[in-house]
Formats: sequence, C-alpha cells, structure tokens
Amino acid sequence: MIETTDAAVRAAGRHALRGDLLDFPSQPVWGELDSDAVRFLPDHWLLIEQGRIVGTQAEAPDDSWMRHDHRGCLILPGFIDTHVHAPQLDVIASFGTELLDWLNTYTFPAEQRYADPLIARQGAERFMDALLAHGTTAAVVFPTVHKVAAQALFEAAQARGMRLIAGKVLMDRHAPEGLRDDVAQAERDCVDLIDRFHGRGRLAYAVTVRFAPTSTPAQLAMAGALCRADASLYMQTHVAENRAEVAWVAQLFPDARSYLDVYDREGLLHPKAVLAHGIWLDDADRQALAGRGAQLAFCPSSNLFLGSGLFDWGAARRAGVQVSAASDVGGGTSLSMQKTLADAYKVQSLQGQRLDAWSALYTATHGAAKALGLDGEIGHFGRGAVADVCVWHWAVGGVAQARMERVRNLHEKVFAWLTLSDERNLVSAWVAGRERFRP
Ligand code: GUN
Ligand code: ZN
Repeated sequence: MIETTDAAVRAAGRHALRGDLLDFPSQPVWGELDSDAVRFLPDHWLLIEQGRIVGTQAEAPDDSWMRHDHRGCLILPGFIDTHVHAPQLDVIASFGTELLDWLNTYTFPAEQRYADPLIARQGAERFMDALLAHGTTAAVVFPTVHKVAAQALFEAAQARGMRLIAGKVLMDRHAPEGLRDDVAQAERDCVDLIDRFHGRGRLAYAVTVRFAPTSTPAQLAMAGALCRADASLYMQTHVAENRAEVAWVAQLFPDARSYLDVYDREGLLHPKAVLAHGIWLDDADRQALAGRGAQLAFCPSSNLFLGSGLFDWGAARRAGVQVSAASDVGGGTSLSMQKTLADAYKVQSLQGQRLDAWSALYTATHGAAKALGLDGEIGHFGRGAVADVCVWHWAVGGVAQARMERVRNLHEKVFAWLTLSDERNLVSAWVAGRERFRP
C-alpha cells in the first residue's frame, strides 16, 4: 500500500514546532538578568521524534517532518505544578476563612463526594484537562482519602499520557465521617495502588500524608515504613503553613522539636519528599530539609488567599533547600503557573527580595524536574527529553501588546509576559510529542 506523505510522516512521529524557543539548561543565578543559564532561540524549530525532543535548528526541516508554524509565539517546556489538589477545583475561590476553618467549611465537604466512583472519575478527567488547558503537563497531586479517587486520577493521567505523581490521601483522625481511613486498610490500599500504578508509564506513587494533625502516630509510622521499604516512592504532605496549625501540631506532638520534626522522626523526609508551604520553619528545619534532600513547594497564591504568611525564599536558598512553585488549588485561586509565579514575585517583593523571570521559569520547569529526580525526562528541550511542550502567545489584549512593543531587552520581555499572561495565552499543549490541547 502506498501511503500519502502526511500519513508516512505521522507514522514516523516527526513533528517540528516553529517559534521562539526558551528553556534553561542549567540553574540561573538568583537576580542575574544577563544569564548564561538561559537558552533563547528566536524563530527556531523544535524537532520531536517518537515523542522525544531530538534537536533545534534555525532552518525549516524537510518534508519528512509535520511542520507546525507558530512563528511569533513563545515555546516553553510544559509547566510542572508540584502541589495541587484535584477535588478542590470544586471549591476554588471560597470566601472568608483561614486554613483550618477553610478545610472544615469548604474542603472536607467537597472531598466527601469523591467516595462515589463516578464523581471521582468525572472530577479526575475535568482536573487533568484543566491542567493541560493551563499549560501544565506534569503535576504532583492530592486526590482524596478514597482509593477510587486516586485510581481515577492515575487513569485520567494515563489516558492523556501525562506525567503524574499522586497517592491516596492518608487521614485517620480529625476529619469528618467518610473522610477517615484506618491504618490497616490504608496500608492495603497503598500497597495495591503502588502495585498497579507506580512506575507504570509516566505514573509514580506518592505516600500522601495530608498533614500531621489528620494522621495518628501509628499512621505516620506506617507511611514512613512504606517510604523506607521502597526509595523510589515519593512522599507529599503539608508543613508549617498557618500559625494556628503550627500551634495545634505542637499540642498533638509535644515530644517533637518542631512541626517538620514530626515527619523527620518517621523517615518521611527524603529526596523524593515534597512538602507544601514551609512558611513557619526555623533554620534548624531548613537544615534538616536540605540535609535530607527534600523539597518545599512554595504556593504563593494560596498563601495570600488563605492569609497564611509570606514564604522566605531567601532563607530557603541560603540553607540549600530545593524550592519549586505550586498552585495549591483550591487554596490557590488559579491553575495558571504564570499567575502563580507572578504572585511569587509579589510575595518575595514584600520581603525585599526580587524574583527574576529566569529563576521563576526555571523553578516551574527544569528546577522542579530536577528536584523531583525527573530532569532526564522533563523540564527542558535537551535531546532525549520527553516532548512536553507548550506554545504561548506573547501578548493577549491591548495592554500586553502595547507593553511588548516597549520592552528593551529579553528579560524585560519575558518578565512582562510572566506578569501579564495566563491560560488565555495558551496556543497549544503537547504531551510526549502529541498535541493534547488547543483552545
Ligand atoms: N493542609 C492540610 N490540608 C490542606 C489542604 O487541602 N490545603 C492546604 N492549603 N493546606 C492543607
Ligand atoms: Zn495543599
């Protein structure tokens, strides 16, 4: 059978995307605007073969490539959101509370609905589609305590070819009926989910302790044992987000040196641990995080919205703690990583620190991948990386267009883009070399 050229090209899986390519082969130095870590290739072609990046070039590739001409657009690695709650899309933008009230008033009731397999599946699909529609191609996600919700999330990610790190939420106290597990059943659920999903395709399992107050010491010990038994497992939780929460943890765990120490004592801090917030930590905590190789997920939108506090990125950096950026929806008010990073700039600004566009974008791409041990796979345009790629308009609307006409250098342009853009700028999102979203 003679194939048409188009069909033959599709069969070879060769795609070439034209636009202004921007990625970060190495970590930019904080505050350095003229940085060697920035790779900007204006009006170049990004070559993708069989789902992986195979190169970049200035000249148009030959007819053996499907050419996608996005000249005049910005092309970035897909964003990585290192902390977000799938079921909380249902309560995003809820009025008037701080963390502990917000959990009881809005979040727990919303999560109770995910015991129903149909609601869990529809919610998981809506959530994964929403990530893609915001240019996020990989994420570290909390579902709910229900096994069906974790399973639905893994299946929704698998169906879209997306990189997902997730796990059933562990919570066996201080939560309402329908949201509590127990140690033995939780362990069985974790073991079964690990067997079925961990390392399957682009999925990985995270032992998911909601936060210290909702797990008994016995459950924390079980979670630690799972991590010790398999160093390839991730761990995700919350730490030191809100002052009332910190005081409550001190009451519940009087023997612990600090909130973070509750996790450290159980072996939950390791290079695959992602801890959200870390606002109310001290230097000994930061030393412990750096020593264990665990990372903090900075969630500026959530921290502002819930009035939690200002994360001190400078102190984390000085201690050598790895920091990624995260939306923390529904505490955060948008899945957009540009909005998240623009809020990050403002939170640092309130503390006299200035987050440059290079450090910001690195944090949400290559930096997050590196902290997760996934830099061989995602976060950059290096040869062999999986082609998770997003194409963006440089400007949408008159204000952004006028601003773009007045930028004087590359940093100014990218910083203005980061501050003024959001999901409305997205032209297309590619996952493993397939276009999966176009508005
Ligand atoms: N701490 C415990 N659970 C949560 C949650 O769902 N969101 C946030 N922001 N903090 C938490
Ligand atoms: Zn959270």
